[in-house]
Amino acid sequence: MTLSVGDAAQVGTLVHGDFDTVLFTYSLSVIADWRAAWQQAWALVRPGGRVAVADTSLPIGPWSLLSPLARLALLSGGVDASRQVWQQVLTDTEHTTHRVMTGGHVHVAAGTKPSTTARVAR
Ligand SMILES: C[S@@+](CC[C@H](N)C(=O)[O-])C[C@H]1O[C@@H](n2cnc3c(N)ncnc32)[C@H](O)[C@@H]1O
Repeated sequence: MTLSVGDAAQVGTLVHGDFDTVLFTYSLSVIADWRAAWQQAWALVRPGGRVAVADTSLPIGPWSLLSPLARLALLSGGVDASRQVWQQVLTDTEHTTHRVMTGGHVHVAAGTKPSTTARVAR
């Protein structure tokens, strides 16, 4: 196993090859250029590979009573809760799952990168 350290928005310059899986945990909502990080990681995943994102947003419904606390925690951690980064998984993958926990505070989305043929057909 190889560990590479660097800017996720430049990951395409750090590592090469077809990866089976990419996992972002509580990071896309923090990374300044998160769209570049997503696009570059996406390009590194082989067709049929899996992509997963766990990230956070402000709670909704009855849990929104905790929004001020959540807002403070997210702000202090440099999190942009408005991005809803898991939506990228819902948009780009197939065989997609999306779990919402803690009143919308935690989202976990996972899916498969379509093959080129399947992607054209969508
Ligand atoms: C909230 S922490 C999550 C850490 C870990 N993924 C986890 O789930 O426990 C956000 C992480 O994103 C990293 N980060 C922020 N901007 C980054 C970037 N441009 N490239 C790579 N990592 C970055 C921070 O260093 C920090 O470790």
